[in-house]
Amino acid sequence: MADSRNLIVGREGRRCPLRGNQNRREGEDMKKFLIGMLVGIAVPVIVAFGYLRLGMAEVRADIPPGRWENYLMNTGMHASVKREAPNAPNPVLPTDENLIAGGKLYLGACAGCHGRPGKPFGGKGPILYPPIPELPVVGTELSEAQIFWVAKHGIRRTGMFANEVWASDESLWTVAAYVKHMNSLPPDVRGLIERLDAKP
Ligand code: HEC
Repeated sequence: MADSRNLIVGREGRRCPLRGNQNRREGEDMKKFLIGMLVGIAVPVIVAFGYLRLGMAEVRADIPPGRWENYLMNTGMHASVKREAPNAPNPVLPTDENLIAGGKLYLGACAGCHGRPGKPFGGKGPILYPPIPELPVVGTELSEAQIFWVAKHGIRRTGMFANEVWASDESLWTVAAYVKHMNSLPPDVRGLIERLDAKP
């Protein structure tokens, strides 16, 4: 009886003093690791919160934001547009008639901020951060569906407001067709839009 108990304890349960110490040390190491991790998470959160609450985040539009702010905001904005915008072809085809209609809409609703075709701001445009892309000068890499989506919903915390309250989906698809083609227009369409822009 005693023998068999010893045997069992010996096989499975007998404490090896060295092993016990090792287990305890491992437990303590794990505790330290978890505390370290919590502190590592809590400190940056507290610092970021304090930075904002103490008014240290710059909000003036006439001071350019830093590289990191630009990088974070641009990356987030473009990734969100890519994710949310429909992946569909423009139902409004880029016929001359539609491009002219889109050009008229652009002149009325977008050009004040994004610039007029053939009349670059030359550094004297509205100052906003994030800056307004001067579309006739820099164009855009967005697809027509993405331009439509940005024009419709706007971009939060920027000057790019949502146009859906005053413009129908059809007119926004029409302006998207124009924006995508604004730098590769047939010459007579371009000329006509520039003449429309010249009218008082
Ligand atoms: C009050 C100024 C303002 C008006 C008016 C405006 N936008 Fe914008 N738009 C902005 C700003 C600012 C941005 C930059 C937002 C950013 O970078 O996060 C922007 C960004 C965009 C972009 C994204 C371009 C890119 O490549 O990243 C598109 C497309 C766009 N606007 C289309 C339009 C269209 C179409 C209209 C007219 C229906 C319009 N916008 C009217 C201020 C304006």
